[in-house]
Amino acid sequence: MSDNTGRTIFLDGEEVPFDGGETIFQVAERHHKDIPTLCYDDRLEAFGGCRLCVVEVEGARTPVASCTTMAEAGMRIRTKSGSLEMHRRVLLEMVVSENREVDVDELSGYASQEMKTLVDRYSARTGRFAGDKSGVSRPDDPNPFILRDYENCISCYRCVRVCAEQEGDYAISIMNRGFETQITTEFGGLLKDSSCTFCGQCIQTCPTGALGDLKALRHVEVEEPIEKTRSVCTYCGVGCALDIMTKGEQVVGIQPAMDGPANEGALCVKGQFAFDFVHHPDRLKTPFIRDDHGQLVPATWDEALDKAAAGLLEAVNEHGRHSLYAIASGRAPNEAGFTMQKFVRAGLGTSYIDNCSRA
Ligand code: SF4
Ligand code: SF4
Ligand code: FES
Repeated sequence: MSDNTGRTIFLDGEEVPFDGGETIFQVAERHHKDIPTLCYDDRLEAFGGCRLCVVEVEGARTPVASCTTMAEAGMRIRTKSGSLEMHRRVLLEMVVSENREVDVDELSGYASQEMKTLVDRYSARTGRFAGDKSGVSRPDDPNPFILRDYENCISCYRCVRVCAEQEGDYAISIMNRGFETQITTEFGGLLKDSSCTFCGQCIQTCPTGALGDLKALRHVEVEEPIEKTRSVCTYCGVGCALDIMTKGEQVVGIQPAMDGPANEGALCVKGQFAFDFVHHPDRLKTPFIRDDHGQLVPATWDEALDKAAAGLLEAVNEHGRHSLYAIASGRAPNEAGFTMQKFVRAGLGTSYIDNCSRA
């Protein structure tokens, strides 16, 4: 049993160990304390803006933000008390009174329900404080991916920080202060004229739906419930984990998996938005081969494979094995890539094989 001069703190009376460099919030979260947050995203540097995560530390004059306060040996911390809950509720009411609406659709983005959930939890009054409101929406931005509804913005800067820290893009920033605060691109322009890559990370971390997934929101009126199916993006060899959102038989959107080992919540524009091929009427559903007139016609897999084998054999016989060159698809899993190189090396007798993911 350690004493309070060791690497332990007291959380709500319970002595718990912590690691050097951990914040109070991180220790508390690990010990299943339910501390509310709004400006926090565990992938980003803590910002300390919303103050919802305040806790009481014995000896401190006022509650401290647990997400930016480092744990120190011997600290005695209270994560829940009547005055903390009142403090959090008033802060929440101040924030939410500024917004046009709280009840945004969950298709907006991964974190879009965070504020609504807290408002419900604290029974916060959404119109308690009247007066100026920050954030001017940008309905003039015609981009097809990102809703820019800043009248629902709470200036948590998660979007700006994820764009800089995760995407390394610095496409958006903060202009002005106080009620004049505005999330903006350089020179206040459209996203397409900025360095935005439309990766969608700002959408997914926004806790209010101020930034929303426009493609998914087209399906708000569809009454079926949203189902999420964990999958892996097929566009390249990175293997980003994602959740495919469906309503009935319709794919309505994609959300990145925050616990995806390869991507930790990140996606590129293709993985995030380019899923229209799934229901596209031109989507190939059978192989095609060329007939005697050079026209592509539907075929069975046996017919297509026979045709390919005959073509490969003809090329080898006429021009030698080094006339062949194979490129494996980056969309194929490791096992398929391995099989292909085996086929090319052992079957066709050439080592001319590459993978498009290297490009
Ligand atoms: S979509 Fe990606 S690059 Fe564009 S502003 Fe959002 S986070 Fe930045
Ligand atoms: S747009 Fe969303 S993520 Fe960005 S500062 Fe506003 S509320 Fe936060
Ligand atoms: S979550 Fe800690 S200050 Fe916002």
